[in-house]
Amino acid sequence: MTQRRILVTSALPYANGPIHIGHLVEYIQTDIWVRFQKLRGHRCVYVCADDTHGTAIMIRARQEGRSEEELIAEMQKAHEQDFAEFDIRFDNYGSTNSEQTRKICLEIWAAVQRAGLVAERDVEQLYDPQAETFLADRFVRGKCPACRAEDQYGDHCGQCLTNYTPTDLIDPKSTLSGATPELQSAPHKFIELEKLHDFLDQWVHSGDRLQTEVANYLKGHFLGEKDNPENPPKQLRDWDVTRPPKYFGFEIPDFPGNYWYVWFDAPIGYIGSTLQWCEQTGEDFDSWWRDGGSDTEIHHFIGKDITYFHTLFWPGMLSVSDFQLPEKVHIHGFLTIGGEKMSKSKGTFVKAATYLKYLDPSYLRYYYASKLGARLDDLDLNLEEFATKVNADLVGKVVNLASRSAKFVQNVGLSETYPDDGGLFAHAASAGDEIAEAYENCDYNKAMRLILELADRANPYVESAEPWNLRKDPDKAQQLQNVCTIALNLFRQLAIYLAPVLPRLAEQTGELLLKPIEHWDESKTPIVGTPVAKFKHMLKRVEKKDVDNMIEESKEPEVIEASGAAASQDSDQPLKDEPLTETCTIDDFAKVDLRVARVVAAEDVAEARKLLKLTVSLGGDERRTLFAGIKAAYKPEDLVGRLVVVVANLAPRKMKFGTSEGMVCASGPGGEDVFLLGVDEGAQPGQRIH
Ligand code: 2FM
Ligand code: ZN
Repeated sequence: MTQRRILVTSALPYANGPIHIGHLVEYIQTDIWVRFQKLRGHRCVYVCADDTHGTAIMIRARQEGRSEEELIAEMQKAHEQDFAEFDIRFDNYGSTNSEQTRKICLEIWAAVQRAGLVAERDVEQLYDPQAETFLADRFVRGKCPACRAEDQYGDHCGQCLTNYTPTDLIDPKSTLSGATPELQSAPHKFIELEKLHDFLDQWVHSGDRLQTEVANYLKGHFLGEKDNPENPPKQLRDWDVTRPPKYFGFEIPDFPGNYWYVWFDAPIGYIGSTLQWCEQTGEDFDSWWRDGGSDTEIHHFIGKDITYFHTLFWPGMLSVSDFQLPEKVHIHGFLTIGGEKMSKSKGTFVKAATYLKYLDPSYLRYYYASKLGARLDDLDLNLEEFATKVNADLVGKVVNLASRSAKFVQNVGLSETYPDDGGLFAHAASAGDEIAEAYENCDYNKAMRLILELADRANPYVESAEPWNLRKDPDKAQQLQNVCTIALNLFRQLAIYLAPVLPRLAEQTGELLLKPIEHWDESKTPIVGTPVAKFKHMLKRVEKKDVDNMIEESKEPEVIEASGAAASQDSDQPLKDEPLTETCTIDDFAKVDLRVARVVAAEDVAEARKLLKLTVSLGGDERRTLFAGIKAAYKPEDLVGRLVVVVANLAPRKMKFGTSEGMVCASGPGGEDVFLLGVDEGAQPGQRIH
């Protein structure tokens, strides 16, 4: 097998919050992939760093009365410790606030300017005169301009769900200082990504660097298509990549007093961290990032909320500055717990450090592996299933093989030749390629399933051979040694296949059989005639009380966050992607109960900017009250008597003005251009639409 050269990254965690189990989905996913590649004998280097710049860090440091550098150093130490305890093993863990990252920022900046991609424009934004900084939307709160609800975010009302700009807010206040913000203008520099449209079109669709749903999402939402009138080419928006003072980041030499926006230097941190590693190890930097013709593969692992940056902005930057482009961007979904978003009040927002107080990191590594597929589906952590799966699979089926056999051969070692096992070892050896392919494709769920199938074949063998009974009969000593030789070899095969997920188990197996696991192909040959060490306990069962205590300790009052994505809940970034469109099966769609209804009353909701209150009849005396955001398009009096289509089985939703008991179907871009779905006048209220 030719040795591949692979450089792997995970998204850089922000330095303004602790690592939590939502973050860990990605770091565990990446670490498994890296360990797998290393075990296969490839040259694989895993770099990451803390993402340290931005307003949030600056403000927090100020509030804590210390320098930003002191704060980020402390956070980095904590992050590195959490990662190490979860067995996430980086080849280098750097910081975006490093001289290496600054150097690469300068290079890429010079290249984008040379390529004619930078434009300067004034931007008006709210400014906090007390904190002396411009305010991102989430740092402004005030009264909603639509429904006048108090204490709403700068961009969005949590009560009536209206989106607006912070300058529309009534009586806005800065969350940083409480001061009333002022509108101020400052010059910003933008990168005109649209100029790279053709390149990006081609890049996104060449090779299999992106999962199909990602390529489709980019095509549908951002790029459009040349020959498709239904999805014509779209303009990529310009990127505002600089920030006026005060800001914590790198000052831009040819734009004095201004700083690169945290999102400009964050991905550059991947290169900065690699450069740092090269400086420390004497590796040749150019052969990892620069040499376009080199055979280095770069693989980024990210969550779906930062797709745009990594699949459009980032390849654009790399291409104009002659850095190596990613071979693949592997994108995963978010973590939900018991089907819901992580929640501080429910105690499901579990910090890595809290988890470690109660539970073994191997449990979470295995559980996540068993749930992670190659697609972008969200991953649900169900705490009951977590315990059952770990106990049944790892303790009950894997470790059990060793614990029930090792002690009987600790004095005699393994048999001199491998006994007849009815083909069990050969079968498991031949399954290796399919398991490897599943790992390679990040289809860990499939890999775990295949491995557990092997365990399901090995266990009945041990049960029927009953080594615990054989040991009672001195005449059966050889038979006992043979049975244990088989059981331990089958166990070792599983430990090799599971080694990317469970490095501790692999290590314990190495200690037990006095032979470290070093290569995937060791699964092809049984070991014989070697000593066996005294069996030491490998993995204890998950106890429900430990899970409960972990949740209890994680409970905190909920702080309402601006709309944000689970993988980066503590983000200070207003520029997150829209969620990738999820597919909905025909069965999901069939659940929607669409009915004809007649509007029997309609009135304006004076306090709401968009809403009309409708009373509709669904036939007989079934009446529903609905709120519809169609004020700009329809006068209430024109609606009375009209037939409309409603979603009749939508769960009722409590709104400020009453409960909405369904939804009227309409289409159009919004505002005045909203059109209620037409219904044939002969239709009857209550009639179901298929
Ligand atoms: O979303 C986040 O948490 C960012 N800190 C990720 C940055 S990834 C890369 F671009 F550096
Ligand atoms: Zn509102």
